[in-house]
Amino acid sequence: MSTTLAPHTDAFVKRYLSEEIRAAIEAFYPRYPSRRAVVLPALHIVNERLGYVPIEAVIEIAQMLELAPAQVQDTLSFYHFFPQDKPSGKFKVWFCRSLSCSCREGEVLMDYLAEKLGIHVGETTADGRVSLLPAECLGVCEFAPAMLVNDTVHKDLTKEKIDAFVEMVKAEKLGARG
Ligand code: FES
Repeated sequence: MSTTLAPHTDAFVKRYLSEEIRAAIEAFYPRYPSRRAVVLPALHIVNERLGYVPIEAVIEIAQMLELAPAQVQDTLSFYHFFPQDKPSGKFKVWFCRSLSCSCREGEVLMDYLAEKLGIHVGETTADGRVSLLPAECLGVCEFAPAMLVNDTVHKDLTKEKIDAFVEMVKAEKLGARG
């Protein structure tokens, strides 16, 4: 008889969501009219804690919210904020490539940052410290070009600011997931 664990068993899915993560998700229940509305906050919570949202976590979120895993996966795949194959870097850099930022050399600066980090856009540095990801408008167009680093928006970017950012990352002076 095979001892392979089926994906739907509790023993399998509970490996990914800790009690702390579950409690953080459950805290959203009273704030929304339905469990389905909690999918996006739940994905953010898991992504923030684990650095990604593996399919096993999707299954467990679905179980918590009484949804089909495909419903959670649909929401996840609609956005581009949730890596699934491996944890993203400690510092997640979302670099805006939308119109206002592009007009002010945003993509030039994004490539400059990639070069300084020694990676391509969409990759994570070998030490797992930084993931550089393209993003659509961050909602701060008046401060273009801009990037979002974890929860902090960096505005009016220049090469000098990118240089300073890279130095801060090296020194681990930024607040980020520990
Ligand atoms: S276009 Fe970059 S923040 Fe809006």
